Amino acid sequence: MSDAIDVKNLTKQFGTTVAVDNISFSVQEGEIFGFLGPNGAGKTTTTRMLTGVIPAEAGTATILGYDIRREPVMAKQGFGVVPETSNAYADLTAWQNLMLMGELYGLGRARAIKRASDLLGMLGLIERKDQKVQAYSKGMKQRLILAMALLHEPELLFLDEPTSGLDVHSTRMILSLLRDLNRAGTTIFLTTHNMEEANRLCHRVGIIRNGKIVAIDAPEKLKTAIDRVHRIEVSFDRDVPGDALLRLDGVTGANRTGDKWQITAENRDTAIRSLVAFSQQNNRKIITLNTIAPSLDDAFLRLTEEAGP
Ligand SMILES: Nc1ncnc2c1ncn2[C@@H]1O[C@H](COP(=O)(O)OP(=O)(O)OP(=O)(O)O)[C@@H](O)[C@H]1O
Ligand SMILES: [Mg+2]
Repeated sequence: MSDAIDVKNLTKQFGTTVAVDNISFSVQEGEIFGFLGPNGAGKTTTTRMLTGVIPAEAGTATILGYDIRREPVMAKQGFGVVPETSNAYADLTAWQNLMLMGELYGLGRARAIKRASDLLGMLGLIERKDQKVQAYSKGMKQRLILAMALLHEPELLFLDEPTSGLDVHSTRMILSLLRDLNRAGTTIFLTTHNMEEANRLCHRVGIIRNGKIVAIDAPEKLKTAIDRVHRIEVSFDRDVPGDALLRLDGVTGANRTGDKWQITAENRDTAIRSLVAFSQQNNRKIITLNTIAPSLDDAFLRLTEEAGP
């Protein structure tokens, strides 16, 4: 697979503030990549450089194979953007905004009409299409902006906090559309604060802090990588002696709570294998076996707070 986004040593400074500090990463075609970080970390600045809104100070970014600085028009044909602040004209209707977008991308009248109708239908806005955007609620406006970003059927979609401040209904509608788009092959670069959202949606997440990337990995790996001690909860159909569990390979602690054993392990994989072997050798059935992972929130806080600014 080739890279949809390839970033090398990208840097942006505003006065004395280094908003984005020499970051490098890539996003594969077909991936949902989450870009996470606390307020002011540099997420929007990165997104704006990648989408050609502001120039980078230093470094390079290739989007769909096109250098964003040298071939911005070619790159822009291939991607759509849901920016942090609305790019819809408030005094135009939703429909007019979409038609304007269609002209901008040279879509052709018939195709623009077809795409606009489909997207408004999918996003639950078709009945309000002739209303001015200023009368739209936040959630409706955000759905419209997504429709605008998708009008030209981009193969790559940038979204800067698309569900921030939205209710469950609008959020679900947007996330489910993103999932469907991705299944159909669209690559997604998603900036978000919402760990749960990133955890459920993203194949990989990059965490940015003070303009620097502090970690990039699959959500599950990030969660487990931050905690060197792993916890496993196991229960057997019959009593087992705690000291027998403690002697198992990979197990460093065994405490009983109710009918379950809380196992701590240095190496989770080794400990699970030992527990399974133990149950077989001692003729005990495993009733439940759970790995207790730290949440992505934990990982995020650890990674963004560690080692000070
Ligand atoms: N146009 C600008 N002029 C001056 N400073 C800016 C400008 N845009 C961003 N900054 C600064 O750059 C840093 C990164 O801002 P950015 O908007 O990229 O953060 P963010 O990660 O998107 O934050 P948030 O989660 O609040 O949206 C901040 O210190 C911000 O004040
Ligand atoms: Mg931002």
